[in-house]
Amino acid sequence: MAGTPALEIRDLHAWYGESHVLHGVDMVVQPGEVVTLLGRNGAGRTSTLRAILGLTGSRKGHILINGVETIGMPTHRIAHQGVGYCPEERGIFASLSAEENLLLPPALKGAGQGMSVAEIYEMFPNLEERRHSPGTRLSGGEQQMLAVARILRTGARLLLLDEISEGLAPVIVQALARMIHTLRAKGYTIVMVEQNFRFAAPLADRFYVMEHGRIVEAFGAKELDSKMPVLGELLGV
Ligand SMILES: Nc1ncnc2c1ncn2[C@@H]1O[C@H](COP(=O)(O)OP(=O)(O)O)[C@@H](O)[C@H]1O
Ligand SMILES: [Mg+2]
Repeated sequence: MAGTPALEIRDLHAWYGESHVLHGVDMVVQPGEVVTLLGRNGAGRTSTLRAILGLTGSRKGHILINGVETIGMPTHRIAHQGVGYCPEERGIFASLSAEENLLLPPALKGAGQGMSVAEIYEMFPNLEERRHSPGTRLSGGEQQMLAVARILRTGARLLLLDEISEGLAPVIVQALARMIHTLRAKGYTIVMVEQNFRFAAPLADRFYVMEHGRIVEAFGAKELDSKMPVLGELLGV
């Protein structure tokens, strides 16, 4: 019997102003799972991550984090349930050094102990080399690693990662894949939004496919081969 899911979303609706963008999303993620949310542009993947954190205009339904209903909570209280969000735009502070960016986030009360800067540098040796470089001088790959590293500092155990491989060179994408493997081995729960199917496919335990603000397919890694024709239709992969 499965225990309490790390994330359970039931009948989630979300709006930006008058615009109804999520139409009843259902999704369950067990602790330690890596789940990938696939879909075409505009399908509602980013909105789903944002809705989990209460960052859309308004939302309705149920979002349980480790069994705790968070639908009525403000964003900072949701984050304190141990959720780390890495937005597509990464949010690195350009005028601060890599290390200053790392030292910014406060530890989350109630969440597990965050990684120390030493542990971060062990996992991302190139960030240590670049510790004194300003955010603007970091490469896209370094910025992406820094954006993920920063949420690891907070003690978040549920990581919401939006298109982390986007626009990065293949060698960097490989490094990000190794990072996901390492985080998985350390027991983090990961929900990744990805456009890059070839990056996501070997990493995920399970997949959800969104279309028009709804989940239209849900399957495990073992079913991936048999789902390829459907994915071809839905995503053009
Ligand atoms: N800030 C916003 N205001 C209004 N509509 C938005 C906003 N962000 C996204 N949308 C709309 O919500 C829908 C889902 O978008 P999004 O969640 O960004 O999709 P995805 O991440 O899958 O590409 C789209 O129709 C998009 O135009
Ligand atoms: Mg998006």
